Amino acid sequence: MSYKKYAYINTIGCQMNVYDSEKLAGILKSRGFEITDGMDKADIVVCNTCSIRHKAEEKAFSFLGRFAREKKKRPDLITVMAGCVAQQEGEKAFVRVPHLDIVLGTQAFSRFGQHLDALESGKKQIVDIGESHIIFEAMPDEAGFDENKISKFITIMQGCDNYCTYCVVPYVRGRERSRNHDAIVDEIKILAKNGIREITLLGQNVNSYGIKEEGISFPQLLKKVSEVEGIARIRFATSHPKDLSMELIHAIRDIDKVCKHLHLPVQSGSNKILKKMNRGYTRQTYIERIKALKKACPDIGLSTDIIVGFPSEDTKDFNDTMELLSEVGFDSIFAFAYSDRSSAPAAKFADQVDEKEKMSRLNQLLELQDIYTEKKNKALVGSKLEVLVEGESLKQRDGFLKTSDKMKQMTGRSASNKIVHFPSDTSAIGDLITIQIEEAYPHSLWGYPLGVEKNEK
Ligand code: 5AD
Ligand code: SF4
Repeated sequence: MSYKKYAYINTIGCQMNVYDSEKLAGILKSRGFEITDGMDKADIVVCNTCSIRHKAEEKAFSFLGRFAREKKKRPDLITVMAGCVAQQEGEKAFVRVPHLDIVLGTQAFSRFGQHLDALESGKKQIVDIGESHIIFEAMPDEAGFDENKISKFITIMQGCDNYCTYCVVPYVRGRERSRNHDAIVDEIKILAKNGIREITLLGQNVNSYGIKEEGISFPQLLKKVSEVEGIARIRFATSHPKDLSMELIHAIRDIDKVCKHLHLPVQSGSNKILKKMNRGYTRQTYIERIKALKKACPDIGLSTDIIVGFPSEDTKDFNDTMELLSEVGFDSIFAFAYSDRSSAPAAKFADQVDEKEKMSRLNQLLELQDIYTEKKNKALVGSKLEVLVEGESLKQRDGFLKTSDKMKQMTGRSASNKIVHFPSDTSAIGDLITIQIEEAYPHSLWGYPLGVEKNEK
């Protein structure tokens, strides 16, 4: 019997890292590894890291630090630090994690196989933080495929040229570059053939897709992707407010498969802070774009990212951000306390805000948004939403189930990105089904499929 080899991959950070990890899994699978959930039986442990905030970076070091003792017991165990922290630290990573075997930077993923070979032939402590023109095209697609999902992320571009003053991305992921549109469409066709129904196109600023390469524009890419048979829904992230064009607004409106949801990070409601962040727009232009978007797509779901406690943010600036929440009417927000990143310019800015004050502002902001989120959800009671079924609901509520044994509580998402729970004995993962919304909570909606009789409690 041949000995089976196992790989454990820990992914920290954004959706792009999830995609990158799938590619690493593909390389490992093609070399005979089986991906495992059990760290203890792994022959290789990979941590795909994130350095966007201090906390994420610490998570990576503490995860990899845990393997020091295991490595002493099992010297053959391979440990790999991949991604943004790896890129940032390079050789220095060995100072904090001396047992590391490979440090794999953000542009080195396509060379992972080569480094594994080198390790096998006796090379030690490999560091690759070099550049690469290859953005995944040369990496296996089908091998990394996980059959149980209906929704997949797909990276369409890498890096960023915007240099927001708080952000490490331009330093750890390099200059912005877009993938070839044919390669993207081909990859999506493979996913569709394997039963994927929803895809999310990823980039730091998808609005500038293809511009440098003088290829097709992002709205044109959306159109091409919408022509792929089997794909029911298209999402994308992230859009930069300064580049949100009318062409894109119209594409969202006109292409049926494009979900009526936009994630548009505003970061702050204060013009003073936006300027210091180098965001390239004002509060007023942000609001104008939102207005144009709502005019074209009245049922659009909106989400955003906000940073509180950026250097020199005072009470007035913070209140401007609080007020923006009601002015725009976001469905949800992702809010963060500003985290100093030594490679980003804002680390040297004067008037850093006290940590306690940052946390207090963060809590105030989240509490206020909770009120708006619930309000927005409540406004949907009585409406009908088309939902893509994701599977059985983890949350079970007795009163909501019909009495039949076959009836299950299922869950899915609306195009506007709301989580919807409903009872059903017929719907399957990947179905599109219309739900009559009956109840609304801060983070979910509950309803009945059209045609299903309501359970009178
Ligand atoms: N501190 C806090 N939040 C940050 N983000 C990016 N850099 C930082 C930082 N240094 C947030 C931004 C971005 C999201 C992905 O992470 O809001 O949109
Ligand atoms: Fe970072 Fe700004 Fe680029 Fe987003 S647009 S990745 S926040 S530099």
